[in-house]
Amino acid sequence: MEKVVSLARRRGFVFPSSELYGGLGSSYDYGHYGVLLKDNVKARWLEAMVRERDDIVALDSSIILHPKIWEASGHVSGFTDPLVDCRTCKKRFRADQLAESECGRKPSKHPGETPDCDLTEPRQFNLMFRTRVGAVEETGVDVYLRPETAQGIFVNFKNVAQLARRKPPFGIAQVGKAFRNEITPGNFIFRTLEFEMMELEYFVPPADSARWHEYWVAERLAWHVRYGVREENLRARAHEADELSHYSSATSDIEYRYPMGWSELEGIANRGDFDLTQHTEASGTKLEWVDAGTGERFVPHVIEPSLGLNRSLLTFLIDAYDEEVVAERDRTVLRLHPRLAPVTTAVLPLITKDAAMVEKAQALRDELRRHLSVEYDDSGQIGRRYRRQDEIGTPWALTVDEQTLSDDTVTLRDRDTLAQERIPIGGALTALLERLAAPWSPPPRAG
Ligand code: GAP
Repeated sequence: MEKVVSLARRRGFVFPSSELYGGLGSSYDYGHYGVLLKDNVKARWLEAMVRERDDIVALDSSIILHPKIWEASGHVSGFTDPLVDCRTCKKRFRADQLAESECGRKPSKHPGETPDCDLTEPRQFNLMFRTRVGAVEETGVDVYLRPETAQGIFVNFKNVAQLARRKPPFGIAQVGKAFRNEITPGNFIFRTLEFEMMELEYFVPPADSARWHEYWVAERLAWHVRYGVREENLRARAHEADELSHYSSATSDIEYRYPMGWSELEGIANRGDFDLTQHTEASGTKLEWVDAGTGERFVPHVIEPSLGLNRSLLTFLIDAYDEEVVAERDRTVLRLHPRLAPVTTAVLPLITKDAAMVEKAQALRDELRRHLSVEYDDSGQIGRRYRRQDEIGTPWALTVDEQTLSDDTVTLRDRDTLAQERIPIGGALTALLERLAAPWSPPPRAG
């Protein structure tokens, strides 16, 4: 993990937040390449969940919802973690994660392991951030920052089902920020106070829910593999009864083999009719599906694949990280799927003082950037420029050299194979688009 954290920082993917003021635990900011990578992960998710299908529509609901929603959903009473305090070091820990936490006075030990540790009994602590809406403190109301995007979907079920004229099975997908007051044992952006969620609520006839649950576990596993996560690092694990969330009748986690061990990457829950029934009771409005023709009515059951965008980005970074020695020199490379990579192609003039080469390279950059994410780099030796692109995962580089000036060809260098081929400069866009559209799987790790 340290190597990925260091690369993420060095190349401006992710920085600790509020560093100027000493940092704020479990909060991170995303720099240029981090933003581009995050946008690409989000785009690939939306493509697979909405654009490539007829049965799912998109939604963007508010972050601050009516506070009664969180009472009805069970989050006010049940969205808690068991916490213990240490009376000696004054640190707070999750009671169920003591084995992964560091003692406040002796970081080589876990809380409770030294004779000085004096832990309280576990107490339930609500994870929702509370704030106030209203200009005047006395007349304002307490509201919550949403801890999941899902509730915004359930309370819009009636609107969307009517407008979309969809019959179950159909789904509503949403990507947006969520907030949780987490006490975390570190692990970079794995668990943070604010993060983006990519959630689908898929409404199905009750009798079909087990089948659709299986379907979505398989579908979501395939998505991670499609975008380059190595299959041997992924597994699906069904929750034991005592692990299930308050709303779930069955959950399977897609787990990834992180440096700290197998942990949840994405959860796929069968929420049954819990949420629609709860909101029907609390709001007095029936949330059910009614067939206008036959009059058939039922409360759909819900299958929910829910993935943290930031956790997905972390997983892609870890899985893509590789080191090797090429021509007796170390090379660090991110073997990201080309459709996730922040930059699709670099354009490099070989001799940066050669005006004709620079002009050709800039014209090529201008043409390509209308269609692709392109970075023009003219600083330093060509080898160093290639290495910089390798570190941010750029799959291809186009180099304009002396030969370009005489025959209008450029060198296309492949990040993974290091193969270089000459292609006509006029065919560069087509060559890159063809490569982008081709299926891709990660080459074996060198390091
Ligand atoms: N609506 C379902 C739900 O909220 P969850 O298992 O609590 O389920 C779903 O969260 C996913 O969101 C997780 O699998 C993980 O990818 C991501 N996630 C949850 N808490 C997170 C946090 N504090 N920081 C980053 N990602 C988080």
